[in-house]
Amino acid sequence: MLNDIIAITNEAGNMIKNFYRKDFGIEYKTNASNLVTEVDKKSEEIIVGFIKKKFPNHTILAEESGLSDKNSDYVWIIDPLDGTTNFAHGLPFFSVSVALTYKNEVIAGAVYDVMRDVMFSAEKGSGAFENGNKIKVSSNTELEKSFLVTGFPYEFDDEQETIFRLFKNFILKSRAVRRLGSAALDMCYVATGIFDGFWESSLNAWDICGAKIIIEEAGGEVLDYKGNLLEINTGKLKVLATNKCITKKMLEIIQEHNNILK
Ligand code: IPD
Ligand code: CA
Ligand code: CA
Repeated sequence: MLNDIIAITNEAGNMIKNFYRKDFGIEYKTNASNLVTEVDKKSEEIIVGFIKKKFPNHTILAEESGLSDKNSDYVWIIDPLDGTTNFAHGLPFFSVSVALTYKNEVIAGAVYDVMRDVMFSAEKGSGAFENGNKIKVSSNTELEKSFLVTGFPYEFDDEQETIFRLFKNFILKSRAVRRLGSAALDMCYVATGIFDGFWESSLNAWDICGAKIIIEEAGGEVLDYKGNLLEINTGKLKVLATNKCITKKMLEIIQEHNNILK
């Protein structure tokens, strides 16, 4: 199964690479910050087309086309292009994420770091890999020496103050915080030990499912803001992903902001 996931993620990524800094159609989803390109849709067609052909009875949840009408215990969760804003502006930091869940648990996933040609992958119980080489999370235990990464939603709604307060506090209490623009890659960079931790307040299942199993298999953990194991659903998710060693310290900061926990 993982070989199929890797192959199709790679194929979609290579198609995307051919459009990098070329002309392609761009539309607004809800506002001028929330884009979808022709390339997002093409990538999704490649991946969904493959799954429908090879696993016709499986359910598919894909960002641009939503939930399919099949009712299987196997659900594929797809972000055809994570980091669309970066891609649309020609910033070479974006990815393709494909995950397979069984009874709501991710059992395999791949995230392709398109412009670096790096494939992150994992299957339950078999470790996590970066271009075939085993990876593991960092062993840093100190928040003040931590290198963190986060992201922001396209619409801040009523949580704007909380999201910025959290950002401010992590900047003050860690070594540095980055905002790179692809949640899937941010999380894979935790899995491979570049970052020690990641948090983001309003994500969808397709942003994180591929990377979730990669972090877990690399020895890290993916939780909600209450410190429980993250449950995958079709709603908005508050996500904390760490090397495990700094979880308690990151949760303390998150939990200072009680209204995030509602
Ligand atoms: C976005 C990216 C970004 C995150 C946003 C996501 P998209 O996904 O992952 O890093 O901050 O919350 O929506 O729209 O580029 O697939
Ligand atoms: Ca995404
Ligand atoms: Ca996307």
